[in-house]
This record gives sequence, structure tokens and C-alpha cells, in this order.
Amino acid sequence: MKDFKDKNVYIVGGSSGIGFSTAKLLFRKGSHIILFARNTERLQKAVNEIEGLRIFDDQKLSWMAMDVANREEVKSIFKNSINDFGSPDLLINCAGRAIPYRFEDITYEQLNETMKINLYGTWNTVEQAVPFMKEKGGHIVNVSSIAGFIGVYGLTDYCASKFAVIGFSEALRSELKPFGISISVLCPPDTDTPGFEVENRTKPEETKAISSSAKLLQPDRVAKTLIKGIQKGKFLIIPGFNGKLSYYVKRLFPSLVTAIMDWDIRRVQLKGSR
Ligand SMILES: NC(=O)c1ccc[n+]([C@@H]2O[C@H](COP(=O)([O-])OP(=O)(O)OC[C@H]3O[C@@H](n4cnc5c(N)ncnc54)[C@H](OP(=O)(O)O)[C@@H]3O)[C@@H](O)[C@H]2O)c1
Repeated sequence: MKDFKDKNVYIVGGSSGIGFSTAKLLFRKGSHIILFARNTERLQKAVNEIEGLRIFDDQKLSWMAMDVANREEVKSIFKNSINDFGSPDLLINCAGRAIPYRFEDITYEQLNETMKINLYGTWNTVEQAVPFMKEKGGHIVNVSSIAGFIGVYGLTDYCASKFAVIGFSEALRSELKPFGISISVLCPPDTDTPGFEVENRTKPEETKAISSSAKLLQPDRVAKTLIKGIQKGKFLIIPGFNGKLSYYVKRLFPSLVTAIMDWDIRRVQLKGSR
């Protein structure tokens, strides 16, 4: 997809953070945008802000409240949206969350919820969109993370869900290619969003130490890289120099990545035991 003008864009998790920045950028490029998230006040506020960026009169802008973790809800909301708004040319699955804790402090309920939002939520929207997208082609973006290819201390449930998003997307890519549907996976590093702020409230010191040397990106920068990546037809989109570097180092020298992380963790633990 090179040109976004007049394209129907579904942004799941579009009321905040990376999804919201992407919505603003694409609306400025002439896309028709529909946002999905759970909280209606935040959705309305996001749409009000995006409205100011309108570039032509009949540009569509809308929202629907939906919990991606609820398959039946996704089924009915997507059915209505496809009827009223039109089927998606571009589907962006940005809904997700992380609640960092050490493994033994993560309840089974938390694991279940993380999987239901981050992995099953992605499956649920793709499941509803694909039959319609097959008719005209299009592009799907699933949002993973750097923690989708590097296992990080304090993020066991999150890493399990985000590694799975990459596997799911890679397998799906080859199945959907004959129908003119391409796929990208966005792997952001730490990004300054409301979700990141929530994440920091429970983050173990070890987890903070591991990412402390990487630059915190702004969501608008991540959105810009995402749009460029879609235009270039990239499968894996990793914003920022540090993120790209960590991907290549992990691939070429996996034990170096583990050794650096172990060193960061040990440093924090030794400090704590003093
Ligand atoms: N920020 C980072 O450092 C970072 C790094 C790597 C990857 N990521 C990934 O990037 C994506 C966006 O993160 P962000 O930091 O921009 O998060 P954010 O600011 O918390 O925004 C998350 C969006 O998803 C929606 N959402 C969450 N749970 C949902 C659900 N069950 N059903 C429907 N919508 C839901 C939220 O709205 P409601 O709460 O109202 O539903 C909101 O619109 C996530 O997948 C995250 O894992 C983020």
C-alpha cells in the first residue's frame, strides 16, 4: 500500500498511544478512519482531536466501543462496521497491554487476560476482516514488541503473547499473499505512551535496568516509521536504531544479548542485597 488516500483504515486500540498517533497521521493523509477501544470517553476525545486534521469534507471518521478479548463482541461490532463504514483496506491491531511482574507474582488470571487481549484479540479481528479483505486485497498490521523476539525479565506473560503475535503473523503472511493481502508486524521499543506509564508502575528494577540504555521513542515517531514500513511492504517494522540493532544482534549473537541482560540483572540484584 503506497497511497492511503480514500482507504478505509480500522485501528484497534486507536484511542491512545501508538494507535492514536497512527490515526492522526493517516487522517492527515486522507484515509477514512474508524477507531476501536473499550473506553467510550477516550474514543470520543481522540476522534474530536483527529477531526481537526480533516483534509476533505466527506472523509469518514468514526469509532466503536469494543473489547478485542471478546470474540462474540468483535464479531458483531466488525459486522456492523463493515456494513456502515465499509470493509477495511488497512487493519491495524494496536490494542495490547503489559503488566510487568516476576513470574511467580503473575496470576493465572493475568496470563489469561494478557493472552486474550494481545494474542486472541489480534486473532479475533483478523478472523472477521479477512473474508472481506480477500475480495479487494489490503494490508494488516499486528503490533508485537522488541519483547516479541527477546525474552525479557519481568515480562513472561507479555513475551509469550508477543512472540506468538510474530509467529501468527509470519504463518498468516504466506496464506494471505495469494489474495493480495500483505502483513506487517510492528515491534516498537519503549515508547512514551499512557500504556507505558501504566507498565512502569509495576516494573521490577531488573526490567528497568535492561531497557535503561535504549532511547524512549515518541509515539508519533513510531507511527511515522510504521507508515513508511507499510509503504515499503516490509514484514518486520522496528522503529529506532537501538531496536534494529537489538534485532540483528539477537539473530547473529544470541548469547551476547543474554549475557548483557544477565549482567544488567545481576548489577541490580547485587545493589539490592547491599
Ligand atoms: N508503549 C510501549 O513502550 C510499547 C512497546 C512495545 C510494544 N507496545 C505495544 O504497542 C501497542 C500499543 O501500545 P501503547 O503503549 O500505545 O498503549 P496504550 O497507550 O495503552 O493504548 C492502548 C490502546 O489499546 C486499547 N485497548 C487496550 N485493551 C483493549 C481491549 N481489550 N479491547 C480493545 N481495545 C483495547 C486502549 O483503549 P481502552 O483501554 O479504552 O480499551 C488504547 O486505545 C500494544 O500492543 C503494546 O503492547 C508498546
